[in-house]
Amino acid sequence: MELLVAERRPDLVVVSGDLTQRARPAQFRQAQRFLRGLGLPYLAVPGNHDVPMYRVWERLLDRYGAYRRHFSPDLEPSFRDAELEVAGFNTAFNLTIEDGRFTPRQLASIGERFRRDGSTETNGRVRIAVVHHPLAALPELMGWRTARRSGEALRAFAAAGVDLVLAGHVHVAAVGLAPDCGRRLWLVHSGTSTSRRGRGTEQGRNTCNLITLDTGPQDAECLRRSATVEQMLWSEQDERFEVEAVHDCALA
Ligand SMILES: [Fe+2]
Repeated sequence: MELLVAERRPDLVVVSGDLTQRARPAQFRQAQRFLRGLGLPYLAVPGNHDVPMYRVWERLLDRYGAYRRHFSPDLEPSFRDAELEVAGFNTAFNLTIEDGRFTPRQLASIGERFRRDGSTETNGRVRIAVVHHPLAALPELMGWRTARRSGEALRAFAAAGVDLVLAGHVHVAAVGLAPDCGRRLWLVHSGTSTSRRGRGTEQGRNTCNLITLDTGPQDAECLRRSATVEQMLWSEQDERFEVEAVHDCALA
Protein backbone atom coordinates (compact mmCIF):
# COMPACT_ATOMS: atom_id res chain seq x y z
CA MET A 1 0.00 0.00 0.00
CA GLU A 2 2.83 2.37 0.88
CA LEU A 3 4.48 1.68 -2.47
CA LEU A 4 1.24 2.22 -4.40
CA VAL A 5 0.53 5.50 -2.63
CA ALA A 6 4.12 6.66 -3.17
CA GLU A 7 3.90 5.83 -6.88
CA ARG A 8 0.48 7.31 -7.61
CA ARG A 9 0.47 10.17 -5.09
CA PRO A 10 -3.33 10.55 -4.77
CA ASP A 11 -4.75 13.91 -3.67
CA LEU A 12 -6.63 12.12 -0.89
CA VAL A 13 -6.50 8.68 0.74
CA VAL A 14 -9.96 7.52 1.83
CA VAL A 15 -10.58 4.77 4.39
CA SER A 16 -14.22 3.69 4.43
CA GLY A 17 -14.23 2.23 7.93
CA ASP A 18 -13.07 -0.75 10.00
CA LEU A 19 -9.69 0.71 10.77
CA THR A 20 -9.33 -1.82 13.58
CA GLN A 21 -10.41 -5.35 14.43
CA ARG A 22 -11.54 -4.77 18.04
CA ALA A 23 -11.51 -0.99 18.58
CA ARG A 24 -8.49 -1.21 20.90
CA PRO A 25 -6.46 1.95 21.60
CA ALA A 26 -3.26 0.36 20.27
CA GLN A 27 -5.05 -0.65 17.05
CA PHE A 28 -6.31 2.91 16.52
CA ARG A 29 -2.85 4.31 17.17
CA GLN A 30 -1.36 1.84 14.68
CA ALA A 31 -3.92 2.89 12.03
CA GLN A 32 -3.16 6.55 12.71
CA ARG A 33 0.61 5.96 12.44
CA PHE A 34 0.13 4.12 9.15
CA LEU A 35 -2.04 6.81 7.59
CA ARG A 36 0.11 9.70 8.81
CA GLY A 37 3.15 7.84 7.52
CA LEU A 38 1.77 7.94 3.98
CA GLY A 39 2.45 11.66 4.04
CA LEU A 40 -0.73 12.67 2.16
CA PRO A 41 -4.13 14.01 3.17
CA TYR A 42 -6.47 11.27 4.37
CA LEU A 43 -10.11 10.99 5.38
CA ALA A 44 -11.56 8.11 7.41
CA VAL A 45 -14.94 7.16 8.88
CA PRO A 46 -15.68 4.54 11.57
CA GLY A 47 -16.85 1.01 10.76
CA ASN A 48 -18.65 -1.46 12.99
CA HIS A 49 -15.30 -2.95 14.11
CA ASP A 50 -14.29 0.48 15.41
CA VAL A 51 -17.03 0.30 18.07
CA PRO A 52 -16.17 -2.03 21.01
CA MET A 53 -18.11 -5.30 20.72
CA TYR A 54 -17.24 -7.09 23.95
CA ARG A 55 -16.45 -4.15 26.25
CA VAL A 56 -20.15 -3.75 27.01
CA TRP A 57 -20.08 -0.65 29.23
CA GLU A 58 -17.84 1.16 26.81
CA ARG A 59 -20.09 0.04 23.97
CA LEU A 60 -23.13 1.53 25.70
CA LEU A 61 -21.66 4.65 27.29
CA ASP A 62 -18.62 5.69 25.28
CA ARG A 63 -18.88 3.90 21.98
CA TYR A 64 -16.58 6.20 20.00
CA GLY A 65 -14.30 7.10 22.91
CA ALA A 66 -11.34 5.00 21.79
CA TYR A 67 -11.74 6.21 18.18
CA ARG A 68 -11.85 9.83 19.31
CA ARG A 69 -9.00 9.58 21.77
CA HIS A 70 -6.61 7.41 19.77
CA PHE A 71 -7.44 8.05 16.12
CA SER A 72 -9.42 11.25 15.49
CA PRO A 73 -11.93 13.41 17.39
CA ASP A 74 -13.82 13.93 14.11
CA LEU A 75 -16.13 11.03 13.21
CA GLU A 76 -17.49 12.78 10.12
CA PRO A 77 -14.61 14.69 8.48
CA SER A 78 -14.74 16.74 5.29
CA PHE A 79 -12.18 17.53 2.60
CA ARG A 80 -12.29 20.07 -0.18
CA ASP A 81 -9.85 21.17 -2.87
CA ALA A 82 -10.09 22.62 -6.38
CA GLU A 83 -11.52 19.40 -7.85
CA LEU A 84 -13.44 17.61 -5.16
CA GLU A 85 -15.67 17.94 -2.12
CA VAL A 86 -15.71 14.94 0.19
CA ALA A 87 -17.87 14.37 3.29
CA GLY A 88 -17.68 11.36 5.60
CA PHE A 89 -20.76 9.94 7.37
CA ASN A 90 -20.67 7.62 10.35
CA THR A 91 -23.03 4.67 9.75
CA ALA A 92 -21.68 2.48 12.61
CA PHE A 93 -23.72 2.51 15.81
CA ASN A 94 -23.40 0.72 19.10
CA LEU A 95 -26.70 -1.12 19.29
CA THR A 96 -26.21 -2.94 16.03
CA ILE A 97 -23.46 -5.53 16.03
CA GLU A 98 -22.92 -5.28 12.32
CA ASP A 99 -25.64 -3.44 10.42
CA GLY A 100 -25.36 0.26 9.78
CA ARG A 101 -27.81 3.08 9.68
CA PHE A 102 -28.32 6.77 9.04
CA THR A 103 -30.03 8.84 11.70
CA PRO A 104 -32.75 11.35 10.73
CA ARG A 105 -30.34 14.08 11.86
CA GLN A 106 -27.66 12.85 9.49
CA LEU A 107 -30.15 12.71 6.63
CA ALA A 108 -31.13 16.30 7.33
CA SER A 109 -27.47 17.36 7.36
CA ILE A 110 -26.51 15.95 3.96
CA GLY A 111 -27.42 19.04 1.93
CA GLU A 112 -25.55 21.35 4.31
CA ARG A 113 -22.46 19.18 4.41
CA PHE A 114 -22.06 19.70 0.66
CA ARG A 115 -23.12 23.33 0.58
CA ARG A 116 -20.91 24.88 3.18
CA ASP A 117 -20.88 28.14 1.23
CA GLY A 118 -24.69 28.06 0.95
CA SER A 119 -24.53 27.53 -2.80
CA THR A 120 -25.64 24.59 -4.91
CA GLU A 121 -22.94 25.46 -7.45
CA THR A 122 -20.13 22.89 -7.51
CA ASN A 123 -17.88 24.82 -9.91
CA GLY A 124 -17.05 21.54 -11.59
CA ARG A 125 -16.01 19.83 -8.38
CA VAL A 126 -16.90 16.17 -7.94
CA ARG A 127 -18.90 15.52 -4.79
CA ILE A 128 -18.11 12.37 -2.86
CA ALA A 129 -19.71 10.86 0.24
CA VAL A 130 -17.87 8.27 2.34
CA VAL A 131 -19.75 5.71 4.44
CA HIS A 132 -18.96 2.26 5.82
CA HIS A 133 -22.07 0.19 5.09
CA PRO A 134 -23.66 -0.68 1.72
CA LEU A 135 -26.45 1.61 0.56
CA ALA A 136 -27.79 -0.58 -2.26
CA ALA A 137 -27.75 -4.27 -3.15
CA LEU A 138 -25.12 -4.42 -5.88
CA PRO A 139 -24.77 -7.97 -7.29
CA GLU A 140 -21.17 -8.34 -6.02
CA LEU A 141 -22.27 -7.65 -2.46
CA MET A 142 -23.65 -11.18 -2.07
CA GLY A 143 -26.92 -10.22 -0.40
CA TRP A 144 -25.42 -8.19 2.45
CA ARG A 145 -27.95 -5.99 4.16
CA THR A 146 -27.96 -2.31 3.36
CA ALA A 147 -27.80 0.37 6.04
CA ARG A 148 -31.11 1.43 7.56
CA ARG A 149 -32.59 4.48 5.77
CA SER A 150 -30.16 3.97 2.88
CA GLY A 151 -32.87 4.72 0.29
CA GLU A 152 -33.50 8.10 1.93
CA ALA A 153 -29.75 8.70 2.17
CA LEU A 154 -29.25 7.98 -1.54
CA ARG A 155 -32.04 10.37 -2.49
CA ALA A 156 -30.57 13.03 -0.21
CA PHE A 157 -27.09 12.50 -1.69
CA ALA A 158 -28.55 12.77 -5.19
CA ALA A 159 -30.38 15.97 -4.28
CA ALA A 160 -27.12 17.38 -2.87
CA GLY A 161 -25.35 16.74 -6.18
CA VAL A 162 -23.21 13.85 -4.95
CA ASP A 163 -21.49 11.88 -7.72
CA LEU A 164 -19.80 9.02 -5.87
CA VAL A 165 -20.48 7.19 -2.62
CA LEU A 166 -17.47 5.28 -1.33
CA ALA A 167 -18.16 2.37 1.04
CA GLY A 168 -16.59 -0.77 2.48
CA HIS A 169 -17.77 -3.38 5.04
CA VAL A 170 -18.51 -6.29 2.70
CA HIS A 171 -14.86 -7.19 1.99
CA VAL A 172 -15.36 -7.29 -1.78
CA ALA A 173 -14.80 -4.62 -4.41
CA ALA A 174 -17.87 -3.46 -6.32
CA VAL A 175 -18.86 -0.60 -8.60
CA GLY A 176 -22.42 0.15 -9.71
CA LEU A 177 -25.05 2.81 -10.17
CA ALA A 178 -27.37 3.57 -7.27
CA PRO A 179 -30.96 2.68 -8.15
CA ASP A 180 -33.98 5.00 -8.07
CA CYS A 181 -32.39 8.08 -6.61
CA GLY A 182 -32.94 10.60 -9.42
CA ARG A 183 -29.29 11.16 -10.34
CA ARG A 184 -26.36 9.36 -11.89
CA LEU A 185 -24.79 8.37 -8.60
CA TRP A 186 -22.06 5.73 -8.43
CA LEU A 187 -21.49 3.37 -5.52
CA VAL A 188 -17.84 2.35 -5.21
CA HIS A 189 -16.99 -0.32 -2.64
CA SER A 190 -13.48 -1.04 -1.52
CA GLY A 191 -12.53 -4.61 -0.67
CA THR A 192 -10.04 -5.46 2.07
CA SER A 193 -6.97 -3.29 1.79
CA THR A 194 -4.75 -4.17 4.73
CA SER A 195 -6.03 -7.29 6.54
CA ARG A 196 -6.66 -10.89 5.49
CA ARG A 197 -10.44 -10.81 5.70
CA GLY A 198 -11.30 -10.65 2.00
CA ARG A 199 -14.37 -12.64 1.00
CA GLY A 200 -15.56 -14.57 -2.08
CA THR A 201 -13.06 -14.33 -4.92
CA GLU A 202 -11.04 -11.91 -2.79
CA GLN A 203 -10.59 -14.36 0.08
CA GLY A 204 -7.16 -13.80 1.59
CA ARG A 205 -6.34 -11.17 -1.01
CA ASN A 206 -6.00 -7.44 -0.55
CA THR A 207 -7.69 -4.95 -2.83
CA CYS A 208 -8.15 -1.21 -3.02
CA ASN A 209 -9.53 1.29 -5.51
CA LEU A 210 -7.68 4.07 -7.29
CA ILE A 211 -10.11 6.73 -8.48
CA THR A 212 -9.09 9.30 -11.08
CA LEU A 213 -11.45 12.20 -11.72
CA ASP A 214 -11.80 13.97 -15.03
CA THR A 215 -13.79 17.14 -14.64
CA GLY A 216 -12.85 18.42 -18.11
CA PRO A 217 -11.65 21.91 -18.99
CA GLN A 218 -13.76 24.58 -17.31
CA ASP A 219 -14.47 26.34 -20.60
CA ALA A 220 -15.50 23.21 -22.55
CA GLU A 221 -18.86 23.58 -24.27
CA CYS A 222 -19.86 20.01 -23.60
CA LEU A 223 -18.39 19.06 -20.30
CA ARG A 224 -17.98 15.34 -19.74
CA ARG A 225 -17.24 14.60 -16.15
CA SER A 226 -16.08 11.13 -15.32
CA ALA A 227 -14.44 8.99 -12.68
CA THR A 228 -12.19 6.09 -13.59
CA VAL A 229 -12.08 3.42 -10.91
CA GLU A 230 -9.11 1.08 -11.06
CA GLN A 231 -9.73 -1.97 -8.89
CA MET A 232 -6.32 -3.02 -7.63
CA LEU A 233 -5.57 -6.57 -6.46
CA TRP A 234 -2.48 -7.61 -4.50
CA SER A 235 -0.15 -9.90 -6.44
CA GLU A 236 1.73 -12.32 -4.17
CA GLN A 237 4.11 -13.09 -7.00
CA ASP A 238 5.12 -9.52 -7.78
CA GLU A 239 4.49 -8.22 -4.25
CA ARG A 240 2.57 -5.20 -5.43
CA PHE A 241 -0.97 -4.07 -6.25
CA GLU A 242 -1.90 -4.62 -9.88
CA VAL A 243 -4.93 -3.50 -11.89
CA GLU A 244 -7.66 -6.18 -11.84
CA ALA A 245 -10.48 -4.23 -13.53
CA VAL A 246 -11.22 -0.69 -14.72
CA HIS A 247 -14.62 1.02 -14.56
CA ASP A 248 -15.25 4.17 -16.54
CA CYS A 249 -18.01 5.99 -14.65
CA ALA A 250 -19.66 8.85 -16.53
CA LEU A 251 -20.89 11.40 -14.04
CA ALA A 252 -24.03 13.52 -14.12
FE1 LIG B 1 -17.59 -3.55 8.65
